[in-house]
Amino acid sequence: MSNKIRWGVLGGGGDSLIGVLHRVAAGMFDAYQLTGAVFNPDFKANKAFAEEIGIPTNRIYKDFDSMVSEELKLPESERIQVFSILTPNFLHFPMAKKLLESGFHVICEKPMTMTYAEALELQAIHQKSKTLFALTHTYTGYPMIRQMRKMIEEGVLGPIQKVDAQYYQGWINPIIHDKKLRSATWRLDPSKSGISCCMGDIGVHAYQMLEFVTGMEVKSILADLNHLYEDNQMDIDGTVLLRLENETKGVLRASQIATAEENNFTLAVYGRKGSLKWEQENPNYLFHLEEGQPIKTLKPGNVYNSKLSLDGTKLPPGHPEGIFDAMGNIYKGFAKAIRNQPYDPAEFPSMRDGVRGMNFIETSVASHKEGNVWKKL
Ligand SMILES: NC(=O)c1ccc[n+]([C@@H]2O[C@H](COP(=O)([O-])OP(=O)(O)OC[C@H]3O[C@@H](n4cnc5c(N)ncnc54)[C@H](O)[C@@H]3O)[C@@H](O)[C@H]2O)c1
Repeated sequence: MSNKIRWGVLGGGGDSLIGVLHRVAAGMFDAYQLTGAVFNPDFKANKAFAEEIGIPTNRIYKDFDSMVSEELKLPESERIQVFSILTPNFLHFPMAKKLLESGFHVICEKPMTMTYAEALELQAIHQKSKTLFALTHTYTGYPMIRQMRKMIEEGVLGPIQKVDAQYYQGWINPIIHDKKLRSATWRLDPSKSGISCCMGDIGVHAYQMLEFVTGMEVKSILADLNHLYEDNQMDIDGTVLLRLENETKGVLRASQIATAEENNFTLAVYGRKGSLKWEQENPNYLFHLEEGQPIKTLKPGNVYNSKLSLDGTKLPPGHPEGIFDAMGNIYKGFAKAIRNQPYDPAEFPSMRDGVRGMNFIETSVASHKEGNVWKKL
């Protein structure tokens, strides 16, 4: 009998953006078996998609609640062990809450919940449960991001004196100027998406990543957000000034109206001894800058990389790996945790990242609304 982890999927149907990324990632290291799903709220479409991708339809359920109750009737040796929540944002909290309370492990898409209060509630439920929780801030799975974290941890840059994260996309530009289109997009609907579009969708990635690579906490922020139209309730662009621990300062810029930008996420950390720079669209290159020296370019799979970085590389140097591999590394780390094997906490983002991320989103919106004022996190 297969010793793969029995895996269930919620959302992520054939009509979704993110579903394929999770399916490929979960399959990458032969650790998970897709065992059951509610890919779609429409049962017919749900079953049709299961047939299309060739998985048995006996555990394709009509909705989330029946999936949980039917799975709980099965003996533990057959029951799904871990669920991935890949639905629109408003379903993350109710689904994660019920799953954790029912004893299932959870892999959840970001933003973790709709509000900070929900995030705290979920954290309390998680602490009481014997379950594991991962949040898919995908970009932390890149080998050169892992390397960046380890180099900063080892003090290669010296004390950090400036951080700069930029996450620019342009996909809302063709939508936002058309009243009909902008009212038909779930990401611009607060009842489905939460109180923020840009900071909730991509600003939070940049925020989590800054804390992930530097190991430092952002202590207070000042946000200036942009809605462009009065009837658009959600920010689609914004700049956030950051104060981290030890008086370190930084800036986080995020936009979904940076016309024609694709997924231009860049990260720069400046220390007293040197700096590290990385770009999501060219993720296999990490640039190390030192005064008076030529720029060094570090690449995945080479012996000079840390154990954590090398663990995230499957092929010898020179074979580019990308976003699918980054997500695969998160699934790989989480499989180790489920199997009770040793792992580095940096192998997958956690409940703590989710709670801090929701605090960041809510505080950004509050800072902007109150007249662009400094707010403590
Ligand atoms: N980690 C990342 O980098 C990243 C990237 C993109 C999206 N996301 C996150 O992933 C989530 C999904 O985003 P997306 O772009 O794939 O959305 P999407 O709208 O493309 O897909 C949503 C999917 O959920 C399904 N769904 C909706 N209601 C459901 C229900 N009640 N039960 C079961 N399935 C249901 C839909 O049928 C669809 O298949 C969002 O929370 C988003 O923030 C994360």
